[in-house]
Amino acid sequence: MVKITVRAPTNIAIVKYWGKNPLWEYFHIPTKSSLSFTVDGLYTETMLEVEEGNGEVSFTLNGEEIKPEQKEFEYVDVYIKKLFELVPETKGYNYRVVSKNNFPTAAGFASSASGFAAMAKALQGAMKELEPEVYEEYFSDDKKLSVFARLGSGSATRSIPSEGGVVVWHKGIPMDFPKRPEDVPDEEKKDIIFSSYAESLFPPEHWPELRIIYTKVKKGEKAVKSRAGMKMTIKTNPVYSQWVEYEENKVLPRVIDRIADKNFPQLANDIMMMSNGLHAMMYYTEPRIRYLNDTSEQIIDAVLDLNESEVKAAYTFDAGPNAVVFTLAQYESEVSSRLAEIVGKENVFVTKMGKGPVFVEG
Ligand code: ADP
Ligand code: DP6
Repeated sequence: MVKITVRAPTNIAIVKYWGKNPLWEYFHIPTKSSLSFTVDGLYTETMLEVEEGNGEVSFTLNGEEIKPEQKEFEYVDVYIKKLFELVPETKGYNYRVVSKNNFPTAAGFASSASGFAAMAKALQGAMKELEPEVYEEYFSDDKKLSVFARLGSGSATRSIPSEGGVVVWHKGIPMDFPKRPEDVPDEEKKDIIFSSYAESLFPPEHWPELRIIYTKVKKGEKAVKSRAGMKMTIKTNPVYSQWVEYEENKVLPRVIDRIADKNFPQLANDIMMMSNGLHAMMYYTEPRIRYLNDTSEQIIDAVLDLNESEVKAAYTFDAGPNAVVFTLAQYESEVSSRLAEIVGKENVFVTKMGKGPVFVEG
């Protein structure tokens, strides 16, 4: 029996992931690349116990034993089944997963991102001890590990690189890749699955003045899960492929340059435009998907107001009403006080860029 404990950070995307390649959906290959900041301070801690068995799984989340019929069990169950399929040796063990997030689960704070990054990292530790050959083939570096995290939840792939900081998740195959998984030989299938992976572009030290402020806008769980929402978007949004192409070819390279130059004002404008673009894609979906609420809109107005004479902040929203606001150390207190006026001081969390997952003493 081995017992591994890890801590994995969440991440916040500025170039968003919203959709899987329709033919490769099962393997969570995205339609476009995305780019995120690894977040210091919002994390999942997971303890994984692995012993010989026949593929049984138990899952405890935030102190509660999750039963197979509960909705939180689904992602974990699907994940483990994919693992067994891709790496049959893993079926010969039982898995006990005990995990806790230090922030609200399923409230748009990307708990699945840090959750599955932690799971993949813990599996890496377990395989190293139990199955050295499997470890070498599938788990021995961050690139491979990012693929296993992705099979749990797409955004988790960006929480894997050990250096953390600014991370890009490469899309791998193009969106119109014509072959289906069942039509390609096993070796090619493996190459395709591993063609989409994450890597760190800049370490956190590249931009120590950057601040990432999380605001908790409303309690409770969101209406449409990202997984279902993005599927609806791909199916019904008539301008989806234009958005994918525009962000991939025009915006992503520009954003990387702006981060390299630490050009905050121009980056901030791009961050807000890309968040607006994501939510426009959701509005183009039929039926329309709406994640932002009145408080989110109030935050947008406050940020625009703060930026009137000089660009000091940028907002971004994922599949929920919580805002994540970027700023620089010199404006931190002004920006966070303004956000606190809207959501209350207790709902404002100031963080920075951080490193990737680590093993911790059990
Ligand atoms: P979020 O926006 O927070 O990622 P999702 O609805 O996409 O929300 O995902 C939430 C799901 O992620 C939970 O139902 C659960 O299955 C999974 N999850 C959350 N935290 C963990 C964790 N620590 N370990 C494993 N899975 C987790
Ligand atoms: C809006 O990673 O939660 O946060 O791959 O189906 O688990 P699955 O989806 P998920 O989607 C995240 C979407 C997003 C944007 C982003 O993080 O890039």
